[in-house]
Amino acid sequence: MPTDGTATALDAIVASPFSRLAGLLAGIEPGAKPIDLSLGEPRAMIPSFLGPILQERLGEFSRYPPIRGIPALREAIAAWIGRRYPILQRQIDPERHVLPLTGSREGLFSAIFPALARREFAGKPAVLVPNPFYQAYAAAAAASGAEAVYLPARSETGFLPDLEALSEDLLRRTAVLYLCSPSNPQGAVARRNYLEKAVELARRFDFLLFADECYSEIYSDAPPPGALEIAQASQGSLANVLAFNSLSKRSGLPGLRSGFIAGDPEFIAAFGRFRNVACPQMPLPIQQASVAAWGDEAHVAQGRARYRENFDIADEVLGSRYGYRRPAGAFFLWLNMAQFGGGEAAAKTLWQDCGVKVLPGTYLARVEPDGSNPGKDHVRIALVSDGETAREALTRIVVRLG
Ligand SMILES: Cc1ncc(COP(=O)(O)O)c(C=O)c1O
Repeated sequence: MPTDGTATALDAIVASPFSRLAGLLAGIEPGAKPIDLSLGEPRAMIPSFLGPILQERLGEFSRYPPIRGIPALREAIAAWIGRRYPILQRQIDPERHVLPLTGSREGLFSAIFPALARREFAGKPAVLVPNPFYQAYAAAAAASGAEAVYLPARSETGFLPDLEALSEDLLRRTAVLYLCSPSNPQGAVARRNYLEKAVELARRFDFLLFADECYSEIYSDAPPPGALEIAQASQGSLANVLAFNSLSKRSGLPGLRSGFIAGDPEFIAAFGRFRNVACPQMPLPIQQASVAAWGDEAHVAQGRARYRENFDIADEVLGSRYGYRRPAGAFFLWLNMAQFGGGEAAAKTLWQDCGVKVLPGTYLARVEPDGSNPGKDHVRIALVSDGETAREALTRIVVRLG
């Protein structure tokens, strides 16, 4: 949305939460040295192996990279999936099941087109989107002409959409169900039985489950289950299921723009044909660096330890204020600000009085048919800074709000 507050036709379709935040805070001076916790941009250390690889491969920037990626990258991704989900060991064929992406966002958006071309739909195809949600899903639905159907993901349903509540009429015209686990913004993790239900519905109604798992390696206790392992366990195949992942959160390298899609081989083939003409290739030196990143877990464990320290600080400073409970995964706090006038009012107060920038939950959600907005009461806080900064920001919030 333009920062002068005027809405355009485009904003009615998609509006960046960060542009909206800039509009909300325009002209307000921060009340203290600013701390920006609005953006989920990991600020971990750059893994030491990255620099030498990029330096050594510098000359490869002069070549057009293959759109399907170099074999070594697809192999490294397939091997990582097999290590992470033992049932998939040696089951992922780098030729048939994997495509590298320039970050998962690119795929979460562009995969909608081959998904809609997969089959005929009686009526307007529906794209099911958890609400609140990562904005690329809505952009995909809007650009492809499908109908986005928003599924509330509130605390009453464990911050995940209620899959039992979907009508057969809707499921019959569903092209894609986006699921995010661990979820942005609430940090909810879909358990095995939840994923089993999602996979079963996708197969019964022949739609695609797009499992956004880019936070899969950021968790509190146990590694979250993945949609592909559930698909494999239930029928010995990956049919109807696609997982998206990325080095952005796992390796703390959002600037690398390196991710993948893996799963249903028929869809991977179709998407590969589509990407061949429509999507960006990943530069060769980045592909080489990505091979090393998918092959190393030490830097991932370090990142996870750092997020855990931040959540230890949140436990200590917040206690049970604002409905806080340590999330099962991802690196966000999803705090209820209803008693402070809702998420937008609280975001303004915290910027104006404490210099802490947080994101109103309403910018991550859509109004439901009953007029309610499942993000309205909340703010999202990305705990991606160092511990000292996190402590300072949370302390300022508690001192101000009580
Ligand atoms: C839920 C979710 N999905 C996907 C992405 C995209 O990540 P990337 O394109 O960097 O892989 C993000 C980034 O913030 C995200 O929060």
